[in-house]
Amino acid sequence: MDYKLTSDGSNTLYSDKYSQTFHSLQDGAFNESLNKYVIPALKIFANAKELNILDICFGLGYNTLATIYYIKKFNLTTKINFFSPELDLQLIESLQYFEYPNEFANILYILKELSINKYYKDNQFTINVFIGDAREYIKAIDSIDIVYQDAFSSETNQELWTKEYFADIAKTLSKKAIIATYSIATPVRMSMYENNLYIYEYQSSVKRRGTIASTFLENNNDLKMKFIDMEKKKLNSPNCSPLLD
Ligand SMILES: C[S@@+](CC[C@H](N)C(=O)[O-])C[C@H]1O[C@@H](n2cnc3c(N)ncnc32)[C@H](O)[C@@H]1O
Repeated sequence: MDYKLTSDGSNTLYSDKYSQTFHSLQDGAFNESLNKYVIPALKIFANAKELNILDICFGLGYNTLATIYYIKKFNLTTKINFFSPELDLQLIESLQYFEYPNEFANILYILKELSINKYYKDNQFTINVFIGDAREYIKAIDSIDIVYQDAFSSETNQELWTKEYFADIAKTLSKKAIIATYSIATPVRMSMYENNLYIYEYQSSVKRRGTIASTFLENNNDLKMKFIDMEKKKLNSPNCSPLLD
């Protein structure tokens, strides 16, 4: 896998297996993590004492690291338990040598421990990295408040975008939970919608929009979330169907 420099100066990797980069080069790896995943999620759950986050999938760990970075930067006291599957053991073991952005400088000791032990714990954070297939892993967890849905695109990583996959994800969710993802594709939204989730478009401060799917109707006006009427979408485009296994 080759290093790629993204627009905000942070590095990502290009995967030959999936023929794509781990992050948007245009939005920047660090900016994408912070703006599409961490900020909306932690604003929606601003008053939570403790949160369970499912990070699909760990990859370079930007989403987990950016969450910890944000919490420490704003002195938040929320406790976070991360659950993160990842197929590629070699990748995880190589992360202790990866060149991360300066924002992560003070928390790289956490990454190093994960890279070696696949586990980290302190007073505020617990992180479990599971080496194996996310489809199996999600059947064994529950009480998830936030899902960072950051797989490769559905063309090459389809097993992590189907209606059946989201059915298993939906079973892991707490009563009040969200899924944040960079994907704005209608079939992906249908895969989530057909599992009884409300669908929102989310415009963060990075260029590309994202989607937030939610178990509840969100009316946080501080966040630029636009409700998508999927029934209307179905009427207007009868061919819009979910992705299937
Ligand atoms: C787009 S990258 C994740 C980016 C990650 N959030 C980050 O910050 O680097 C997708 C990751 O999913 C992993 N992956 C793909 N399919 C998987 C599966 N079925 N189970 C577990 N991991 C999978 C890949 O190995 C890759 O590391």
